Amino acid sequence: MKLRNKSYRSNIKIHFIQQDSWVKPGEYLAWAERHGYEVSFTKCWLYEAVPEVIDADMLIVLGGHQSPATTKEECGYFDAEAEKTLIRNCVDSGIMVIGVCLGAQLVGEALGAAYSHSPEKEIGPVKARLTDAGKADPFFASFPDAFLAGEWHNDMPGLTESSTIIAESDGCPRQIVRYGKYVYGFQTHMEFTNDIIADGVKEAGESLKSGGQYVQTPEQLLAFDYTEMNALLANFLDMLAEDYAHPESVPISYIMEKMLAFSKGNIHDIDHLIRVWTYAKTIGELEKLSKETQYILEVAAITHDIACPLCREKYGNTNGKYQEEEGALLVKDFLRGTGMSKAQIDRVAFLVGHHHTFVEINGIDYQILVEADYIANASENDYSKENMTNFMGKIMKTEAGKRLLKIIFNI
Ligand SMILES: [Fe+2]
Repeated sequence: MKLRNKSYRSNIKIHFIQQDSWVKPGEYLAWAERHGYEVSFTKCWLYEAVPEVIDADMLIVLGGHQSPATTKEECGYFDAEAEKTLIRNCVDSGIMVIGVCLGAQLVGEALGAAYSHSPEKEIGPVKARLTDAGKADPFFASFPDAFLAGEWHNDMPGLTESSTIIAESDGCPRQIVRYGKYVYGFQTHMEFTNDIIADGVKEAGESLKSGGQYVQTPEQLLAFDYTEMNALLANFLDMLAEDYAHPESVPISYIMEKMLAFSKGNIHDIDHLIRVWTYAKTIGELEKLSKETQYILEVAAITHDIACPLCREKYGNTNGKYQEEEGALLVKDFLRGTGMSKAQIDRVAFLVGHHHTFVEINGIDYQILVEADYIANASENDYSKENMTNFMGKIMKTEAGKRLLKIIFNI
């Protein structure tokens, strides 16, 4: 039987800060909906308070008619300070943050860089270019060197010391700015749709009257087809989200060395974890797990008995239930700060917390960990042939695991 890789990480949660009713999320929301991602909103124009923290993987701060300097007296429902606090908290917690137009300016401000006026006002699609840094940014791999970018702005985001300009136009040198690995400011509106433009012309058409080299007429704005820029934005978001879900992994050797140190010379524990890791790695590779699932499995195998020393001391034994409870907590502490993502650590903690539970095995990583631990225990504790045949029939599911058990114990 083949178990499917449990996609425990596929549901990305996205929170939108929407300032004004008519400045809509456009392609940002359409992209999220196509993927079935969970979305939530703070609708500022309805006087909904901006939270200080959010339970999400991505924050998208949309544009609005305000500027970062707009006060509560000028716009009663807009709270720049609250938005900056949320942005800072999200950046600190490592989730993805995207600011759009005013949102981009607020991201810069939240990170210490004041917004400023754009050299030129731009309304309508303008020709933008990737900078050399933009061409080297893997998330922009699908962007051509020059592309049409939707615009509706007077201002632009500030630059922090560590920020990088990704794209520019003749009228504005900061079209897209990278503030961190997962933090981007889009002065441009790649999310525009014809509906948004129609609303914009109705609500803010006054701003079109001033004219200017880079300001187009309502007719030009409405006639333009935005699908191509939407597709570029969606490609960027796909690559960003994919990288966020599967970041480059901390080497297994690093986790192993840390666990060996944690074992404080207890050779019994060390021999056991090395055995379980070897069997888990072998079965995982033979079963052709995805790179990420294999990685989670190996980290869980190395750390699965992390609670044994504590349980011996606290309960006088290494009973499975205690081990699971204590292990799930201990392993989170142990892995925090290694550079592994929260999602990775959560899954490893789940596996460590369930490795003695043989019901509701909800993933191939879980299944193989149970099988590898059994094979190691069988050799260490001289299990009977009957015990092994029984376990193989009732609990083992992978062909590779069964083969190994048969080869090793000659059954
Ligand atoms: Fe074990």
